[in-house]
Amino acid sequence: MPSLYEDAKAPLEQRLDDLLAQMTLEEKIGQLSMKQAKTDRDLLRSEHVGTIIGARGQETVALQREVGDQHRLRIPLLFSLDCIHGHALQPGATIFPTQLGLSQAWNPELTEEIGRVTAREMACTGIHWTFSPVLDIARDLRWGRIGETFGEDPYLAGLLGAALVKGYQGEDLADPESVLACAKHFAGYCDTVGGRDAAETTLSKRHFLRDTIPPYQPVIDAGCATVMAGYQAVLGTPCSANRWLLTDLLREQMGFDGFVVSDWCNLDWMIERQFTCATMEEASALALPAGNDMAMASEDFPRACLAAVQNGDLALNAIDLACRRILHAKFVLGLFDEKRYPKLERAPQVLGCWDYQILSLEAAAQSIVLLKNEKNTLPLSGEHKRIAVIGPNADDAINLMGDWSFGDGEPSRWADRTDVMEYVTAQTTVLAGLRNHVGNRAQVLHAKGCGVTAGDDDEADIAAAVTLAGGCDLIIAVVGDSRATQGEYKDRANLNLSGRQQELLDQLDWLGKPLVVVLVSTKPLSIPTAAQQADALIYACSPGMRGPEALANLLFGNFNFSGKLTVSFPWHVGQQPVRYNLEPGWHNWGQHYIDLPPESAGSLFAFGHGLSYTTFAYEKLTVVNSKLAQGEPLVVKVSIRNTGDREGTEITQLYIRDRVASVTRPEKLLRGFARTRLAPDETKTISFEVPFDDLAVMGADCEWVIEPGEFDVLVGPSSVDETLLAARFTYEAGK
Ligand code: NOJ
Repeated sequence: MPSLYEDAKAPLEQRLDDLLAQMTLEEKIGQLSMKQAKTDRDLLRSEHVGTIIGARGQETVALQREVGDQHRLRIPLLFSLDCIHGHALQPGATIFPTQLGLSQAWNPELTEEIGRVTAREMACTGIHWTFSPVLDIARDLRWGRIGETFGEDPYLAGLLGAALVKGYQGEDLADPESVLACAKHFAGYCDTVGGRDAAETTLSKRHFLRDTIPPYQPVIDAGCATVMAGYQAVLGTPCSANRWLLTDLLREQMGFDGFVVSDWCNLDWMIERQFTCATMEEASALALPAGNDMAMASEDFPRACLAAVQNGDLALNAIDLACRRILHAKFVLGLFDEKRYPKLERAPQVLGCWDYQILSLEAAAQSIVLLKNEKNTLPLSGEHKRIAVIGPNADDAINLMGDWSFGDGEPSRWADRTDVMEYVTAQTTVLAGLRNHVGNRAQVLHAKGCGVTAGDDDEADIAAAVTLAGGCDLIIAVVGDSRATQGEYKDRANLNLSGRQQELLDQLDWLGKPLVVVLVSTKPLSIPTAAQQADALIYACSPGMRGPEALANLLFGNFNFSGKLTVSFPWHVGQQPVRYNLEPGWHNWGQHYIDLPPESAGSLFAFGHGLSYTTFAYEKLTVVNSKLAQGEPLVVKVSIRNTGDREGTEITQLYIRDRVASVTRPEKLLRGFARTRLAPDETKTISFEVPFDDLAVMGADCEWVIEPGEFDVLVGPSSVDETLLAARFTYEAGK
């Protein structure tokens, strides 16, 4: 006779009670353990492991049969993978722009759709759980993982993160095409000192609560099922052992009710790197009561956790609670009722199908930013008959995609993976995209010139590239970063163009030909010289598999640019951090460093900046309710006119400045944005509604407060004050 927990019609809480009542302690601990797909099957069975990382397709079927189905209570396995910007570790699947690239589209609807497509492709290959979205904020650009963030603004990151979660999880997690999302790296992974990966977070509690935590709230409100505890320590306590962080803040204050997984081997790092405990038994006894429910990849965890309970150092109810939360997710996904085997027969129609490719093209086109366009160098008119495409990222598919694509780790490690290598060679490069676009209307010639780093400079021949460019009438230089210079473990001390890339640009510049520089990189670099040399400068931030086609269409004006920056470009690495939402200093206001030129005050290109082939004029900023009552949303209207001669989409930004408050704070904060498409000469009035709570400042005692007084609302095309229209409103308490 089947048990109650096996009855799909029984209420979920009763099914959980029934199952937990039948489980041994060892079986419960097994559910708290995640192990790699390559782990010995006997070990997975004997430890009753409940979650696998890294399996795909047929391997998930084999593991489910050999491990899940062999479980005494037939508890299904949960399969997880880093599907971060699409299911991009899966050969044949769609690769979208990275989070940072995508954020430059400022488009929550598009972001949600990408999440949905990613979930469908994942489901087709048997995966139930993605470790996405990243809600870290871009702080110090030396950090290797900046490209995984949604940029430097917590408000924008929260909205885009929530959109991605809605896409992954769909209307209902029981839908076989919905997957669990995971908000990470809770919290402050981005705030580690010196941009160093997995170091200590040294922010004050006030700044931590003000800037780092807010993006998580909309994501939790959107129902995000899981959260990952970061590698780092917060205020002295490693995240996985931090009860204040994982329980008081995350669950009790923010209302999270899913389960928390550690990042990779967090419990081991507590012993080996953070020296906050001596044994895995101690680490388990700290992590579980703190609110860390699942241990990722900690080999010794199941044995040690059991020992900790048997020694009396870890209470049984902590195990029960964590186990219940994890099993809850398995029930909600419907795994107990119908095995979610991969639909491999559908894979050829689903993975990388035409519709998804078009979505990837749309995302790439919206994400690429035009930073500079002098003398109307762009769009290209077709008059150039010999085009030189020079530089290390011109004919490289891998460097277009960002991290978490193709294979794990360094490309050299994929050499024996024929499926991955075929996937790489099937991709279009910038050069191939341009050649496809131009056809026989012009000659597109190529020379690499140099590598991204000295390490891949074997074929460096700057002289040959310059000679080739000298015989052409337009130069497109494609420079940037590579897998070797970004990602986890790959922080940089220097943000200049690496290797000999600047030398290459210097020599190309000497030729005096029209020079278009395309920066293909995972994050902004400090490129003041290149920016000055370029007649036109484009930032293609990891635009994904359809990036080259998007870029060619943008260069030739078939598409118009609309993307805007979500991270400010620094002049120099020594200025870090440079961002629009810093608190202003008062000495040397605007001229922070004596050994940098005066014009370097602030950023090279500011948050929110991005050009179009048309121009827009802002008029008639009106505050509808300039005397706000408590709780009342602020309503603002503005007119935008397309003053150029072609259609374009404008991303309008709304910032709030609290004129006087009891605490210091950023000079202004983004609190709204809109995308508006306008035909030439067309005018549209758009309106914004800013929730009352979005006027709050973080008070000195770490509580959000809305202080009465005057505020400015600033609306326009970027975060630069001179570009914004301003109006005033007041909030008087008690009115
Ligand atoms: C470590 C990374 O920090 C995290 O982002 C990722 O999801 C896990 N490894 C799993 O691969």
